[in-house]
Amino acid sequence: MGIDPKTIDWDSLGFNALETKSMFKATCKTGERWSEGKLVPYGTIALSPASGVLNYGQGVFEGTKAFHTAKDRIVLFRPEMNAQRMAMSTKRLCIPIMNEDFFIDALEQTIQDNIDYIPPYGKGSLYIRPIVWGTGPVLGVKPADEYTFIIFVSPVGPYFKGDIKPLHLKVTHNFHRAAPKGIGNAKAIGNYSASLYPSFLAKKTGFDEVLYLNAGNEKLIEEVGSANLFILKDNVLKTPRLAGSILPGVTRDSVLTLAKEKMDIEVQETDVLLDEVCSADEVFCTGTAVVVTPVGKITSENGKHIINDGKMGKITHELRSLLVGIQREECEDTLNWLHPVD
Ligand SMILES: Cc1ncc(COP(=O)(O)O)c(C=O)c1O
Repeated sequence: MGIDPKTIDWDSLGFNALETKSMFKATCKTGERWSEGKLVPYGTIALSPASGVLNYGQGVFEGTKAFHTAKDRIVLFRPEMNAQRMAMSTKRLCIPIMNEDFFIDALEQTIQDNIDYIPPYGKGSLYIRPIVWGTGPVLGVKPADEYTFIIFVSPVGPYFKGDIKPLHLKVTHNFHRAAPKGIGNAKAIGNYSASLYPSFLAKKTGFDEVLYLNAGNEKLIEEVGSANLFILKDNVLKTPRLAGSILPGVTRDSVLTLAKEKMDIEVQETDVLLDEVCSADEVFCTGTAVVVTPVGKITSENGKHIINDGKMGKITHELRSLLVGIQREECEDTLNWLHPVD
């Protein structure tokens, strides 16, 4: 039934799944609309061993956060972007698409019912994981005929332990994350199972994460295990363009907008060469979990490259502060990105 929120030590939160009071649950059959749904106690679920998700990986998810702000409000950050990406991901995996209102209403219900698990202002956030699976039984390879949508939440601190330490990325020349016309741009669960082994190998040998190369042209970089990558060179900010194999990150879009509109930096969504990354002035990655995290070292088959003396760069720091400032309502939300949960 969830841990007692009064027992949580908000200062030592990591990025783990803690059991909370409740989760949202809805089901939908093929050809029907997502409409009903309710809060149920947090807990295990029963699945047919023949379910689509267990046999053929028919599942997609989202990740977003709720923040307790300086104005003592609870806010979501750009949840409509998660709703839109969820619609895109579900379409790609033949899962019934849910409309934005249904998705956001379900997020709000889940947050309100688990409000006691939201860390106090400045101590972290409530990570929100909407996930939808094919739960109907299938034997031949085809879409299931019934789907289950769950939203569970967990209070979280930082994704990487300790102070913001620039990451050491390992460029993998042995594995690709996603095929050019595959499912890399969907938040499909299978993309993450494919990333476990490369990530395991990298971490075992002392790296923080993997940097993937483009499967069609290995001179180009794609993204990190669970984050988008940016480079800054001569005051131009570049990130790989969305060509089908990269996840269109909400944070990626937010950083592009902040750099352009608030910092007057030239931004380019373009092909990014591995060589450019290794000789960049600043490198950082972005994501809901990692926020804006600097990269200090990159090791590829051409050796180790130190970025900005291994320290967080000035622009990286400014972008991170701007983004976090908006999310915590320490600065004005002039772009209208916050969605208060009353
Ligand atoms: C593969 C991958 N790329 C990028 C991101 C960043 O996306 P967002 O900023 O929406 O969290 C994520 C999710 O965190 C991811 O899993």
